[in-house]
Amino acid sequence: MILVTGGAGFIGSNFVLDWLADAATRDEPVVNLDALTYAGNLRNLASLAGDARHTFVHGDITDRGLVDRLLAEHRPRAIVHFAAESHVDRSIHGPGEFIRTNVQGSFTLLEAARAHWAGLPGAERDAFRFLHVSTDEVYGSLAPDAPAFTEDHPYEPNSPYSASKAASDHLVRAWHHTYGLPVLTTNCSNNYGPFHFPEKLIPLMIVNALAGKPLPVYGDGRQIRDWLYVKDHCSGIRAVLARGRVGQTYNIGGWNEQANIDIVHRVCALLDELKPDPAGPYARLITHVSDRPGHDRRYAIDARKIERELGWRPAETFDTGIRKTVQWYLQHGDWVAEVQSGAYREWVARNYAGRA
Ligand code: NAD
Ligand code: DAU
Repeated sequence: MILVTGGAGFIGSNFVLDWLADAATRDEPVVNLDALTYAGNLRNLASLAGDARHTFVHGDITDRGLVDRLLAEHRPRAIVHFAAESHVDRSIHGPGEFIRTNVQGSFTLLEAARAHWAGLPGAERDAFRFLHVSTDEVYGSLAPDAPAFTEDHPYEPNSPYSASKAASDHLVRAWHHTYGLPVLTTNCSNNYGPFHFPEKLIPLMIVNALAGKPLPVYGDGRQIRDWLYVKDHCSGIRAVLARGRVGQTYNIGGWNEQANIDIVHRVCALLDELKPDPAGPYARLITHVSDRPGHDRRYAIDARKIERELGWRPAETFDTGIRKTVQWYLQHGDWVAEVQSGAYREWVARNYAGRA
């Protein structure tokens, strides 16, 4: 049994689905604790309905009593911690929730995990892991010719989001050094793929293009991100959980640096091929808008450590991953429509009304 937090979000739901599908992990049940904020969507997990291996718990990681109860009841051998506020733009408009969930919530989980771990008998205690899922954004922004981020790169977070994630990384580190909690931290680059909430770059561009709406590119669009298909991130996390050295951090990335404007053109070209618009090429919709305040110019992950130590490499190239992603959005217009209308949240309210 493992406890996953944030398992109804983009990466968390992919992780839960892949965990329960992969031959190496599928026999181990998952308890999934998620507050179902705007970013959490139980529809992502609809294929697990009635599956006894998945227990969903609607709750908040800042609720210490709840976390204590879940640990006592289910006795997970690991916690995989995804739950977070994750959108940089939202953190600029309202940083408070980022401090509450990413800092206070991570602290609450660490304290609950520490108490639980301390009470475990020998072998269970040795095997227990707390895996913290973090981001490359904690390292700050790279100059154009600077080498990619290694695990030793200094922390230089620039947005309220990345500062809150950096704070949580530091707490995780300290709980290991001070209390001996067996932690692992992963710092991953930008993910893309199924169930990506359409306020982030790639799904936003697909969804807006199909609706004939402008494709808003911040500033000159020459900012660089390092894109990884979400299922490769999930396989990287499974590798770190299985074989990572306690107390270590592992960068996860796809060796795929691209400027935002090139990503947008690639999405447009794929849509031109797969669902041509009689009105003309989708790139006609590209609109440059004012830049994100404090916008980091470049991220790039040096993923050699996880490859060297754990033998992990991404399975998808960007060509294969972005094609799958565009196809997924073309085939899941109902999912997009529900997210856009907010209907998925009404469904959650209906589904949970009156349940214990
Ligand atoms: P997301 O916003 O799609 O999902 C976050 C999930 O956490 C949602 O289901 C939400 O309901 C839940 N949640 C939020 N606050 C909560 C709380 N207080 N208690 C319980 N649940 C809560 O995020 P994502 O893109 O899936 O990211 C998951 C994790 O991976 C985050 O920690 C993020 O920092 C990290 N990460 C994301 C990326 C990326 O490109 N998206 C890259 C690297 C790392
Ligand atoms: O690097 C990992 C991070 O990637 C994760 O930690 C975050 O949780 C995740 O949201 C993501 O952060 P970004 O800020 O890089 O992702 P976003 O999709 O918001 O933006 C990607 C790039 O595209 C960024 O340079 C800003 C730009 N952008 C974004 C939007 C939404 C645009 O130009 N236009 C847009 O409308």
